[in-house]
Amino acid sequence: MTRGKFIAFEGGEGAGKSTQAHLLADALAARGITCVITREPGGTPGAEAIRNLLLGTAGEGWHPRAEALLFAAARSDHVERLIVPALEAGQWVICDRFVDSSRAYQGGAGGLGDADVMALHRVGSQGLLPDLTLLVEVSPETATARATARDGDAADRIGGRDAAYHARVAQAFGALADAEPARFARISGDPDANAVHREIMAALAPLLGAA
Ligand code: TYD
Repeated sequence: MTRGKFIAFEGGEGAGKSTQAHLLADALAARGITCVITREPGGTPGAEAIRNLLLGTAGEGWHPRAEALLFAAARSDHVERLIVPALEAGQWVICDRFVDSSRAYQGGAGGLGDADVMALHRVGSQGLLPDLTLLVEVSPETATARATARDGDAADRIGGRDAAYHARVAQAFGALADAEPARFARISGDPDANAVHREIMAALAPLLGAA
């Protein structure tokens, strides 16, 4: 059994990642590739429960270190119970956010640093990394317009942080992609969804050739 490929979507709020994840799943299915589409934080019942702890707006919020531990715990359950078994069964996994979100949000914007986030990832998920990480980048104007259209005033605890925090997130994502060009593809999310999808399929060509 050939192991499936693990594809992650990353980017800030309102980048259009979930739309693109579904378009990609449809395109892979049309090629006869079975895939599982999932998201973080979440993807398993336990991780979805942790998601509610992280993103709910009740209570006093989490210290950056506690926040990073909760994301890592959710990811550990998701990796162990869903992602690795699916890959081992030969399915492809498309995940809306993975460890690079922790590196950008908690490590970069939150000030925890990359080494600590990656240390948690080694403990929680044996350092599993995607075969390909699609970083969907949009201008701050597009991001704000899309996030407002989707969430209105109901942004979650992290999405609702100020513009300076989200600018640091975007900068941290860019630096991660620059540091690992073989794993990342940087995709412009500003054009319409079909044009973005074509760019994503072009970035996937090397993996499809080997499928
Ligand atoms: P979600 O509504 O799924 O965001 P989006 O649709 O913008 O992808 O909420 C996930 C939020 O959690 C988002 O603000 C990013 C944040 N997050 C982290 O801070 N660290 C992480 O490791 C992950 C997976 C998400």
